[in-house]
Amino acid sequence: DLVIGTAVAGGGHHLAQPYPDPFTSDQEYRRVLAAEFSSLSPENQMKWEFLRPERDVWNFGPADAVVEFAERNKQDVRGHTLLWHSQNPEWLEQGDFTAEELRAILKEHITTVVGRYAGRIDQWDVANEIFNGDGTLRTTDNIWIRELGPGIIADAFRWAHEADPKAKLFVNDYGVEGLNAKSDAYYALVQDLLAQGVPVHGFSVQGHLSTRYGFPGDLQANLQRFDDLGLETAVTEIDVRMDVPQGQQPTAAQEQRQASDYRRALEACLAVEDCNSFTVWGFTDEYSWVPVFFSGEGHATIMTADLERKPAYHALRDTL
Ligand code: XIL
Repeated sequence: DLVIGTAVAGGGHHLAQPYPDPFTSDQEYRRVLAAEFSSLSPENQMKWEFLRPERDVWNFGPADAVVEFAERNKQDVRGHTLLWHSQNPEWLEQGDFTAEELRAILKEHITTVVGRYAGRIDQWDVANEIFNGDGTLRTTDNIWIRELGPGIIADAFRWAHEADPKAKLFVNDYGVEGLNAKSDAYYALVQDLLAQGVPVHGFSVQGHLSTRYGFPGDLQANLQRFDDLGLETAVTEIDVRMDVPQGQQPTAAQEQRQASDYRRALEACLAVEDCNSFTVWGFTDEYSWVPVFFSGEGHATIMTADLERKPAYHALRDTL
């Protein structure tokens, strides 16, 4: 029962682009979203800066719309995200809060957001990107860990679980596809949390891949070791970016390599018993974050800007 998901465009870099919100304005986009996927992840609509522009202003409209769309189309939803160092509002990052106040703010946030969608969101990325590449915790740029200490991670899971006992609660990160210092750090953290009885249910790899690097061939082995701990696993944000000069198209060889990476990632997930969701980070190059964030790279999704299916799309279809 593997679900195939996509991020739903909106917020984030989309706000800075010269197009209106694709989710509300692009009918063809919505048709493909409903037809091709069995799970949706709000790309930005549940992030702090988007949900809470001011301390007492909640902006639930766009997040609600994604959940309602998913329900109408019998799709799962992955909630993203509750405890992260990035895309936090200025009132939070620049605020002058005591540790006690910050803790109460986080608890209120998790309780309110997870509670609002209780029973309707299948998986939550509770903690996102909490480790550095060398396997140390992000103690400087993550406000929660910096101000409240590493114990806040366990608390976040406990609060989320109280607010929705049915939701599967995940740790999620990039650069943890293979066996390395960062994924080792998650392996140790999760064992520690489980030993304390903390409700952590899943480990997920984002899967932001680039054809500049080799495919992480130890992805399956890595997912398997978390599966062996009794956790679910998932691929939550896969895209495979390529070096293509502005205004040009990728070569056939580039597209084949990209298709191969997508296929290998899906095969790894399929080979691990409780790898239950596989999500692409957007399905069309038109709205992808990649060219905005990685200069010189792009064409990272499974469909062109005109929604033509690429070799990567067919590779996934054929593998399922
Ligand atoms: C990205 C979005 O795609 C952009 O629209 C936004 O401007 C920045 O964030 N890891 C994550 C995602 O967990 O939330 C990020 O999404 C991509 C990297």
